[in-house]
Amino acid sequence: MIPLKRRKKEAAAPSDPVTPPVLFPEVCIFLVERRMGAARRGFLTSLAQKKGFSVVQEYSGAVTHVVSEQNSFTDVLSWIERKTGKPVENGKDKESPHILDVSWFTESMSAGKPVPVETRHSLGTLQSGVSKEKDELFTVAPYACQRHTPLTHHNSGITDALEMLGKAAAFQGSEVRSLAFTRAASVLKSLPFKLQSAEEAKNLYFCGGHCQAVIQEILEDGVCHEVEVLKISEQYKCMELLTSIFGVGVRTAERWYKGGVRKLSDLEDMNIKLTPEQKAGIEHYTDLKQPVSLEEAKRVEHFIKDALNRFVSDLTITMTGGFRRGKQQGHDVDFLITHPDEEAIRGVLKKAVDWMDSKGLLLYHHTKVRSHTPAHRRSTHMDGHETCYAIFALPNLPSDSGVSGAAHVDLISPAARTWRAVRVDLVVSSYDEYPFALLGWTGSKLFERELRRFSWNEKKLTLNSHGLYNTEKNCSIPATSEEEIFALLGLQYVPPPYRNA
Ligand code: CTP
Ligand code: MN
Ligand code: MN
Repeated sequence: MIPLKRRKKEAAAPSDPVTPPVLFPEVCIFLVERRMGAARRGFLTSLAQKKGFSVVQEYSGAVTHVVSEQNSFTDVLSWIERKTGKPVENGKDKESPHILDVSWFTESMSAGKPVPVETRHSLGTLQSGVSKEKDELFTVAPYACQRHTPLTHHNSGITDALEMLGKAAAFQGSEVRSLAFTRAASVLKSLPFKLQSAEEAKNLYFCGGHCQAVIQEILEDGVCHEVEVLKISEQYKCMELLTSIFGVGVRTAERWYKGGVRKLSDLEDMNIKLTPEQKAGIEHYTDLKQPVSLEEAKRVEHFIKDALNRFVSDLTITMTGGFRRGKQQGHDVDFLITHPDEEAIRGVLKKAVDWMDSKGLLLYHHTKVRSHTPAHRRSTHMDGHETCYAIFALPNLPSDSGVSGAAHVDLISPAARTWRAVRVDLVVSSYDEYPFALLGWTGSKLFERELRRFSWNEKKLTLNSHGLYNTEKNCSIPATSEEEIFALLGLQYVPPPYRNA
């Protein structure tokens, strides 16, 4: 017999008998229901409990980690204050609770244990009774290389619109305006909450003026008039089509557009002179337009490694670009190749490319030889590594023999094709330049641009994918890893998944 008093208490306990034991007694989570909703809160609660976390339903002084989704720091504090009737206080005999974005929660769930709280998880801190807004923290990080920019974020409606306006500005030849929109989009990608008002954006870098008007329009009307106009603009649609051809940049597309080109078939009908790269781009247009999946990228990797290993068996071959940043699809697959022995990499790319070509695995390729201009004299955008830009014929699955399925590609009718065209970039770097090449070829393009801008503006150092240079002292600063390059620049290390600026 259980005494009545104890029985009652047990029945009222929030944790039912199936609740697994608490494995991390030092952590007590409170999930903020505002904007998260009861259903998701319930789901996250049981997920965390299954993993041994303690999650409480009511806010109290015992809470160590307040987790919220799409709320700002002040949103959370005032919501709790309304619910409990008293403010969240700075702890007297214990530390005040962390006020966190859901990213801390999801990372802890995947780690299977509470991960240490980092600045990027925190919406703000209670310091001696003074609250410090996350917004303030963000305004002190004007460069993308000082922030974490995850692949998925809370403001995609707005960032899609800003990026489209950026693209349109680039199509009109205005690099400066284009960069302004792109930078604003990038700042919003690193916000750990969803913007609720244009007012909230006013303290953020690059989000004033025109961008603030766009933000306001989207938050209020759900759409931006200027973007809607672009979507139906013949010029925008046409420039988008033409610049999506492999080998066609904005200038060429603009020239063609002004000359009356409106669709792909016009290029042939109007007898437009094309480079071999553009010819291949048009021939394989449909395939290349279709995004490359991660699964396809891994199969490409298998073939590329096989081809290179035939000539040198112990090369380091790394998939870089968007896939290294955790993207699930991309417009191409990028690889970086190196080896400690300078002799080993000499000529290996050409040999592997010729071999793949002889097996019908390449639909197009052109190789740029290593530049001999001193690396620090090159423009920051110019890359002097030996590089092969190719269109790869990826054999379809299931492929029993792999290579033979792709042989004589041009003799096979499209319907009976046993391959699909995939853009591939192969880059070779010397061993001492490898960390710089890895950093430079991982992207995103804006992240790289910001990293170089930071190096020069803040440290008076020139960074490119060959090295880091002190031009005043005329010397280069070596590094053996990406982490070391960040450290040399006085930056916190940003792992690839957070370089999606
Ligand atoms: N890059 C470069 N020199 C080039 C081309 C690209 O240094 N001639 C760098 C870019 O700065 C970028 C990286 O290589 O950082 C990858 O470029 P790209 O493949 O164009 O973009 P991704 O980020 O991989 O995007 P996607 O997934 O669409 O391919
Ligand atoms: Mn890429
Ligand atoms: Mn690429």
